[in-house]
Amino acid sequence: MSTRPQESDASAGKPKHTVLSLKAKYERGEPITVLTAYDYPTAQAVDAAGVDAILVGDSLAMVVLGLPNTLSLTVDAMLHHAKAVSRGAKRALLIGDMPFMSYQADTAEAVRNAGRFLAEGGMDAVKLEGGTPYVATVKAIVRAGIPVQGHIGLTPQSLNLLGGFRVQGRTAATAKALLDDALALEGAGCFSIVLESVPERLAALITERVSIPTIGIGAGPHTSGQVLVLHDILGLFSTFTPKFAKRYAELGETIRSAAEAYARDVRAHTFPGQEHSYSIPAEEWQSFLSSLGERGPKPAALPRPRRG
Ligand code: KIV
Repeated sequence: MSTRPQESDASAGKPKHTVLSLKAKYERGEPITVLTAYDYPTAQAVDAAGVDAILVGDSLAMVVLGLPNTLSLTVDAMLHHAKAVSRGAKRALLIGDMPFMSYQADTAEAVRNAGRFLAEGGMDAVKLEGGTPYVATVKAIVRAGIPVQGHIGLTPQSLNLLGGFRVQGRTAATAKALLDDALALEGAGCFSIVLESVPERLAALITERVSIPTIGIGAGPHTSGQVLVLHDILGLFSTFTPKFAKRYAELGETIRSAAEAYARDVRAHTFPGQEHSYSIPAEEWQSFLSSLGERGPKPAALPRPRRG
């Protein structure tokens, strides 16, 4: 298997992204591109596409593991995926999503868990959900030398408090609270903030008022960058499709028809063919059969696969 960069590898030869290179992009007014990835091959593909940052999102609970929400993921489960992604991606900034209850209960525990994403998971930064109440936690993690991305608006780990996956900040009071959260996270030292499922005007205003990049998902076009869940854009998750997700491929269909073609070939004895099979030198085969006290059939008499 070749490990050389492909001609179509947009990241080949380019330096690895850091929080500073993303800041420089932001300051130049260039949109920051972020996608999720959860394993080695998807990380390789997204990285080769030249996407600036890869989020190992806890959305993997739903789109990879088929769980109804993200609440049961553990740090160990996230690290399992983070390690695979870090083996596949060479250039993108890698952000590990801190799962439910890995940072909410205790600041020291939050710092230790964040550290594991870098030390064990090969990540460059972590993301955590929540605004003003998490200022002390963000400060402590940043003080430990770990870049933190904030995440406000629809925060799926608070699903039970929010009453479902709903758009946030649609009243004057909640819009003001989200602006305050964004300013508090900036003050705490976040290098960027994800704005999920908020009205586009509010996302634009927050983006204008903070001086760190905002990364939108369901937040309209006026944020500093965009993030989407990979399985949503690939057509690999069909339980539901959020309004904000644009499909760029139908890989679920592609996988299904490939699996159907394979099963058809096996049933029709047209797979495996000669080109997929291994041989043994004739004299070795004869000697093997002799050792069994048998005489071998002539090569022409080898059993052929039954057709149809
Ligand atoms: O878990 C995730 O994939 C996320 C993105 C939706 C931002 O948090």
